[in-house]
Amino acid sequence: MVVYLNGRFLPREEAKISPEDRGFLFADAIYEVVRFYRGRPYHLEEHLARMQEGLVAIRIDGDASFYPEVAKRLLEENGLAEGDAIVYAQVSRGAAPRSHAFPPAGTPPTVFAFARSADPPLPPEGGRAILVPDERWGRCNIKTVMLLPNVLAAQKAREAGAVDAILVRDGLALEGTKANLFLVSKRIVRTAPNGPHILPGVTRRAAIEAARRIGLFLEERAFTVEEMLAADELFLASTTLWTYPLIAVDGRTIGNGRPGPVAARIREELYAEFVAEEPARSGRG
Ligand code: PDD
Repeated sequence: MVVYLNGRFLPREEAKISPEDRGFLFADAIYEVVRFYRGRPYHLEEHLARMQEGLVAIRIDGDASFYPEVAKRLLEENGLAEGDAIVYAQVSRGAAPRSHAFPPAGTPPTVFAFARSADPPLPPEGGRAILVPDERWGRCNIKTVMLLPNVLAAQKAREAGAVDAILVRDGLALEGTKANLFLVSKRIVRTAPNGPHILPGVTRRAAIEAARRIGLFLEERAFTVEEMLAADELFLASTTLWTYPLIAVDGRTIGNGRPGPVAARIREELYAEFVAEEPARSGRG
């Protein structure tokens, strides 16, 4: 496996980062995950814009412009240019003797990226989730690598035999540990509004547009755990999952306990857009 580190492409075993890297010491870093099919990215511009906004928000002096070329070469070097793959990229504030405030001016950011095959799909019969209190910080809209609450919640889900944990803040079911969350109630599709408590997912935005295209009513309004449990359908949405149906939460069945038609229909829309020879939007006005 060939990875990218600070301007060089090299075997993964040779990619070494300083123990004083601030990504390691302080989780002082942001990241992005982009999906590629046959070398073509899914909504790359949106991912790059989010990465750029993240860099500005946490005041890392770097920019996301490295991404397209690096991703292309990583896919080629790793034999992934014809397949379904993801490219991960991370930018930290660089390496410097440990001190909380920023390192000396001119400390170069650490830039790391790798490509790998897209994860195998989850079971088609849908998955179960658990509820976990959302213990994340107040700026979840920034895609930082500070994912410990997500890590602990995901592990709790795994130990419970669930596919994910739903993070709950003030009674509201906000999102999964690595995906946005949607419910369907009759013809209404609902998801939490963008803001400091969720990540503004690229798939979330695409799913909203897809739902509108197929004639559903879309509400960007947070929902309570009770509203969620009363929904006809519940699904996750992310770069790695597309949409994925949740059929039970904390042992309570959602809808009829089977994957519903809306999540499947939106998934088809997203996938069609992704694999289309021509970018889907150009033909749709
Ligand atoms: N996670 N919410 C959270 C907390 C996320 O970490 C992610 C993405 C999403 C979905 O965003 P998008 O549709 O842009 O992928 C929502 C990535 C895939 C990860 O951490 O691996």
